[in-house]
Amino acid sequence: MRRLQVKSSAVEYQVIVGRGAWRALRQLKGYTTAFVLTEPGLWKRWGKKFASDAGWQGVRPILVPSGEGSKSLSMAGRVASELLDRGADRKSLLVALGGGVVGDLGGFVASTYMRGIDYAQAPTTVLAQVDSSIGGKTAVNIHAMKNLVGTFYAPRVVVSDPEVLASLQPRAFKSGLYEAVKHCILSGPELFKWLEGKVSGLKPGDAGVLETLVARAAAVKVDVVTRDEREAALRRVLNLGHTYGHALEEATGYRRFLHGEAVAWGMLMVTRLAELAGVLDPADGKRIAHLVRAVGPLPNLRNLKAEKVLGLLIRDKKAVGGKIHWVLPEGIGRVRVAADVPDAIVARAFHDVQGGVWND
Ligand SMILES: NC(=O)c1ccc[n+]([C@@H]2O[C@H](COP(=O)([O-])OP(=O)(O)OC[C@H]3O[C@@H](n4cnc5c(N)ncnc54)[C@H](O)[C@@H]3O)[C@@H](O)[C@H]2O)c1
Ligand SMILES: [Zn+2]
Repeated sequence: MRRLQVKSSAVEYQVIVGRGAWRALRQLKGYTTAFVLTEPGLWKRWGKKFASDAGWQGVRPILVPSGEGSKSLSMAGRVASELLDRGADRKSLLVALGGGVVGDLGGFVASTYMRGIDYAQAPTTVLAQVDSSIGGKTAVNIHAMKNLVGTFYAPRVVVSDPEVLASLQPRAFKSGLYEAVKHCILSGPELFKWLEGKVSGLKPGDAGVLETLVARAAAVKVDVVTRDEREAALRRVLNLGHTYGHALEEATGYRRFLHGEAVAWGMLMVTRLAELAGVLDPADGKRIAHLVRAVGPLPNLRNLKAEKVLGLLIRDKKAVGGKIHWVLPEGIGRVRVAADVPDAIVARAFHDVQGGVWND
């Protein structure tokens, strides 16, 4: 079991990673009642283990349908009503057992129900274990606007058991792995090299390797969140690959790529961009590209209109006051944020990756 500490002047909590991590929920004492928010399929597969590990035999979950559609104000209202009907008061605890959707929704409800009750995160996807469960950002979507309404509200504890990843669909698993790769690029040569040796053939059921990966990748997020108080811009580094990635998701109506897959393409493009900008040694660029590719095949880019994707980047640029803050890798474990990257090389990096002429 590994314990990471998130610490700021306002909050302090642990991120506990390891097989059997849900047992740590037993240490949360002094609550009138505990509620679990989750999805039907997850509860069917993991409910017994959860109830037994947490020591809450007979607990009845609050269920929401799986999928991004559940991150809505109306769903938050339904969950709050169910909490009320079942007697939740200010001293109740809510545990979010699920991926980023359940985590964001559960955190949002906890932060607003009776002006705030305690909650814990029990993340069940790779993305949620290395990223979304840490940092206390909660949100729901309004129509197509992702995360338009949300709060900052820290959990009491995050408990990540890598065994739960065993039931992930291969594509969902890999999508999360790309985000873990991102954290390894940010971390530095040691973790990067370790993952180079482990990544090919990595399966959802490889709990031992995943325990190490999740713990080390989560530590990168913990570190950023902890230091962000002093350096407000630091969280930006976590956006590595996300500028192109978001444009790819938007250009395809959020249908062709899972989020992590779009980020993976984005990491390839921004790595090429860093080379073209002259800030990255091509030998490191090659290693980054190989590590991203080693996770597995990505949905293809071939028939995607470059003008559409690049147009979305430019539109974004206008929206944020004329500047995109590019997160460029300068090496393994080093990034710089640059706001002055010429449009011409932004387009060239896209074309080089799309056309397969660079480290394909
Ligand atoms: N709060 C933050 O800081 C933050 C950061 C990044 C992303 N997010 C949010 O996270 C969400 C995406 O999270 P996600 O990728 O975990 O998506 P998700 O919660 O939708 O989970 C992906 C899919 O996996 C299924 N699933 C979850 N756990 C499973 C398991 N153990 N076995 C089998 N199936 C399982 C779900 O039912 C779903 O179909 C987005 O809404 C995004 O905005 C939040
Ligand atoms: Zn992401």
